[in-house]
Amino acid sequence: MSDSKQAISSGMALLIPLEFSPKVKQILIEKNLYENNLRPKRISQNLALPLCGDFENIRDEICQTIPEIKNKMIIELHALEVNNPDMIPAQMVFHNVSSWLEQINHNHKKELLLENIPQKWELLGDLALLPSNSFTQNEWVVLLSQCEQSEIQNLWNSICESLKVNRLGRQQPISKDLMRTSQVELLIGDQGWVELIDYGVHFGFDATKVMYSSGNVTERHRIGNINMENEVVVDAFAGIGYYSLPMLVRSNVKHLHACEINSNSIESLLWGAKKNNVSQKLTIHEGDNQITLAKLKNKSDRCHLGILPSSEGVWQLALGCLKKKGGWLHIHMNVEEKKIPSWIEETISKLELMSQKMGRNWTIEAKHLEKVKWFSPRIRHVVLDVHCTQ
Ligand SMILES: C[S@@+](CC[C@H](N)C(=O)[O-])C[C@H]1O[C@@H](n2cnc3c(N)ncnc32)[C@H](O)[C@@H]1O
Repeated sequence: MSDSKQAISSGMALLIPLEFSPKVKQILIEKNLYENNLRPKRISQNLALPLCGDFENIRDEICQTIPEIKNKMIIELHALEVNNPDMIPAQMVFHNVSSWLEQINHNHKKELLLENIPQKWELLGDLALLPSNSFTQNEWVVLLSQCEQSEIQNLWNSICESLKVNRLGRQQPISKDLMRTSQVELLIGDQGWVELIDYGVHFGFDATKVMYSSGNVTERHRIGNINMENEVVVDAFAGIGYYSLPMLVRSNVKHLHACEINSNSIESLLWGAKKNNVSQKLTIHEGDNQITLAKLKNKSDRCHLGILPSSEGVWQLALGCLKKKGGWLHIHMNVEEKKIPSWIEETISKLELMSQKMGRNWTIEAKHLEKVKWFSPRIRHVVLDVHCTQ
């Protein structure tokens, strides 16, 4: 990725020895004297920081904060690159991180560092989450270990600027524990609470405590598009309300029973219910759904089973939740692509057997299979819509 053709503009710049530039840049930003539309430029062992406004007012303050700099600050007119507003965010990140690399003193191989600049991230409101391997390659680890804290802050800030966010985090692998605890390291920002609106539905959660599956967005929209008027619905793995809230707000369910074991997720679900003004239609059943689902026997018209890699552990209980006349199941599962047809057949046979054992001789049919996303090269996250009728 490169952006060789950059517009040039003349602007006043403060020439600062490289080692002091991160601190001075920070002060300029705080005082609104840093010209964001222009790009700093390395000139020998100095950095030209683009200025806007009257710098003289803060000259003394800078000298007091960094006494060594006293006679080394020069203001000059310089030809500087204009930040290109047409660049896509990935180009902005690449460009800003490479100019950061130019601004700091180092003797590492630039190509190796440039190769590993992140090209994707997840945007959650004003928080951008970088993938867990970002800046963890050997070259980067060594370079960052040699940088001052303020230089590292400038690196994270340059990414925030590129992505137009105020907070930056690095994802850690979602834990494999039952509760899918999220592990996010905040690089910029001091708290992880995030608020989003998706298809008119408000979600709020702490990204450092719970997971948010933005990869499931199409499925969330599909479920929210199903008309569930007058239905009682059970969501067996409610989380922060990824599906519960769209069903409450958009599918217009009569009442929803949300089963969830993680108190952090429940806090978010309560927040979401209040924000979306649907609290009166929601009952939360805190605890293990092996226990809570058993208490919801014969209550629902529909049961949503949103857990991966498999929801099979609650199929029997979910069938038990449906009213005697039957209803719908939405079964999430990770299935190898080529085995999907046989998996559907097996699933229906298993459900038939389970329902017979319960004395419910339902007709059980697979009505729709949704391929949500690739989970790994050959494995699909699928949702099977199953209809049970007397
Ligand atoms: C994959 S996450 C969120 C699921 C959400 N439906 C989705 O696909 O984005 C699964 C949720 O189920 C909850 N969970 C897992 N096992 C559970 C159990 N035995 N009883 C109740 N909740 C459980 C976890 O705490 C987590 O919030």
